[in-house]
Amino acid sequence: MAADTNTPAHVAIIMDGNGRWARRRALPRHAGHRSGVGAVRRSVELAAERGVKYLTLFAFSSENWSRPRDEVSKLMSLFVEALQREVDELHRNNVRLEFIGARKQLSPGLVEKIEAAEAHTAGNTGLRLLVAVAYGGRWDIVEAARSIAARAADGTLPVDDIDAGTFAAELQLGGLPDPDLLIRTGGEQRISNFLLWNLAYAELYFCDTLWPDFGDEDFDAALAYFAQRQRRYGHTGEQIEAAG
Ligand code: FPP
Repeated sequence: MAADTNTPAHVAIIMDGNGRWARRRALPRHAGHRSGVGAVRRSVELAAERGVKYLTLFAFSSENWSRPRDEVSKLMSLFVEALQREVDELHRNNVRLEFIGARKQLSPGLVEKIEAAEAHTAGNTGLRLLVAVAYGGRWDIVEAARSIAARAADGTLPVDDIDAGTFAAELQLGGLPDPDLLIRTGGEQRISNFLLWNLAYAELYFCDTLWPDFGDEDFDAALAYFAQRQRRYGHTGEQIEAAG
């Protein structure tokens, strides 16, 4: 299906439900995360096929560091492994892979793999895949504020020039367009400290499917939901209809 005006340019996903998927099968939580990699692969393929331009996935939040040490360490190893295994395929499919989040908190080995994958795919012109690891929306906003404050303090940024555009440019998503559609799997209906600034006008789609089971039908249902929303950005419905 080709992209049309009803296709979201930027889709963000909170991939929830791996643990429950595993528990229902009497498997360790980690088996759910492993199975979740397959759903990541399917979603990337489908996003590209449907004409989505940016796909941002919430893989590990600032708060996920408080999970049991063994789960955190297995998740980090899974990221390294998935990077090793998937990057060539992403590259063949013209996908540009980037990471957002507090890189300083990650192990040197993982950072090395991330940087290599980003460099390898930097010239690709197809889907831009952004993976959020050690990411939190509040952290992102605080970092942006810190950077703006430093520029204001050293005199390179006049305080009166600070506006929403200056601020957005300092955030992890930088100059990328805001997500049009947020999908959250796993039945919970909350944002969980994901892209707090950037999701201001996103359409929100929640489904009960657990992340490892998320497939074409779920993705298409989310896109269909998006296609019938009227986005008003504070205007009235009549104003939007008149503008046509
Ligand atoms: C949330 O489910 C999921 C995570 C914290 C990890 C997401 C990671 C993956 C899908 C692995 C692969 C990712 C990439 C980008 C290669 P949960 O554990 O909170 O599930 P629960 O709510 O059922 O316990």
